[in-house]
Amino acid sequence: MKIVCLLGSPRAKSNSSAIAQRFIDTAEELGVQTKTYRLNELKYRGCQACMGCKTKLDKCALKDDLAEVLEAVQECDVLVMASPVYFGEISSQMKGAIDRFYSFLKPDYLTNPNPVRLSAGKKLVFALTQGNPDKELFGDIFPRYDYFLKWYGFAESHLIRACGVRDSGAIETHGDILAEAEEIARNVCSN
Ligand SMILES: Cc1cc2nc3c(=O)[nH]c(=O)nc-3n(C[C@H](O)[C@H](O)[C@H](O)COP(=O)(O)O)c2cc1C
Repeated sequence: MKIVCLLGSPRAKSNSSAIAQRFIDTAEELGVQTKTYRLNELKYRGCQACMGCKTKLDKCALKDDLAEVLEAVQECDVLVMASPVYFGEISSQMKGAIDRFYSFLKPDYLTNPNPVRLSAGKKLVFALTQGNPDKELFGDIFPRYDYFLKWYGFAESHLIRACGVRDSGAIETHGDILAEAEEIARNVCSN
């Protein structure tokens, strides 16, 4: 089993990254191979809609730091994505990476019953943190990305959310959420 983790926060002591890290630490204790990418440290652009991945290549045509990340996502069994909520959305670092997932679609993806270049059955773990304590706010974010990734063949998905965590490191007082990340890691890694 291979786990790839994408961190979308620019912060060093990030709440969303801490949730992902608890998941990763647990997975590594169980002997699972993991690779984490801090997106904010990489140089890449969002999708340029060049259609190179549909007309010339079977992968993204852009040659930047995200090329390795896209390859790792293609090969992983479990994808962990952790992001802060910025203006009611995932961070631009994470959104830019997700837009490049367009390259995983085959040229005839609109009509092909197997439209995706990824193997089916991957698992998704999505961690989101927001300053606002109201869980009703921004609850629409995960279902939208889950919808697309289900279409991409992801078989199982888990959301870990922390609301009311604004300051750097505020997640440390939410032991229940970190414990949830640990429990999900144990379940995901044992199945
Ligand atoms: C640019 C910016 C935009 C933000 N927008 C929101 C928002 O729309 N709703 C919210 O509840 N919190 C918002 N926040 C607060 C963050 O979501 C919160 O601090 C979160 O825990 C950060 O996660 P991180 O530590 O992983 O970066 C914003 C923070 C920043 C810096």
